[in-house]
Amino acid sequence: MTKENLKIGIILGSTRQGRVSPQVGEWVKGIADKRGDASYEIVDIADYKLPFLGTTDGSEPGIAAWNAKLDSLDGFVFIAQEYNHSITGALKNALDFAREAWNNKAAGIVSYGSSGGTRAAEHLRGILGELLVADVRVHPALSLFTDFENMTTFKPADLHLPNVTAMLDQVIAWSGALKTLR
Ligand SMILES: Cc1cc2nc3c(=O)[nH]c(=O)nc-3n(C[C@H](O)[C@H](O)[C@H](O)COP(=O)(O)O)c2cc1C
Repeated sequence: MTKENLKIGIILGSTRQGRVSPQVGEWVKGIADKRGDASYEIVDIADYKLPFLGTTDGSEPGIAAWNAKLDSLDGFVFIAQEYNHSITGALKNALDFAREAWNNKAAGIVSYGSSGGTRAAEHLRGILGELLVADVRVHPALSLFTDFENMTTFKPADLHLPNVTAMLDQVIAWSGALKTLR
């Protein structure tokens, strides 16, 4: 197994109109693609049009497609935004819609909010533990006040770059190690 075989999904945690998560996800992907150590792709929860868990018979094609996408990935970077001191409902719903497809994989978290989205990130860590996803220590935390203009246009401070690199180093190492368990 080589690191080049690893597939890492950069999951956009927000789905609302006007969301800033695509800007953050593309920034992480731009840094990741330059590494040449894995295949990185943006995974947009909104594309799967997941229903609210338990409100349908589960036959929507997006549910199977979501599980198939997660199955195909070896690790994740969650772009996590803070909503009411936690993760978005959309991300929690998407997390709940799969089980085995998450197991024995690694993840990093890039969060944002007024306090760096740290409360959302810590909640996400608890959920990932239940899903057998190994979340790495390094956690880039972006401020809505200093890393965005008018809280909408993403202009990340340079200081985050080494953190993103260190987070990806850990995600790649653990994704490769955990692949041997599956
Ligand atoms: C319903 C809602 C609740 C929010 N609650 C918080 C919060 O508790 N703490 C915080 O730092 N930001 C909070 N915000 C601000 C969001 O972090 C900010 O709008 C961010 O851009 C959301 O990510 P998105 O643009 O990708 O949806 C909240 C935003 C929304 C829509």
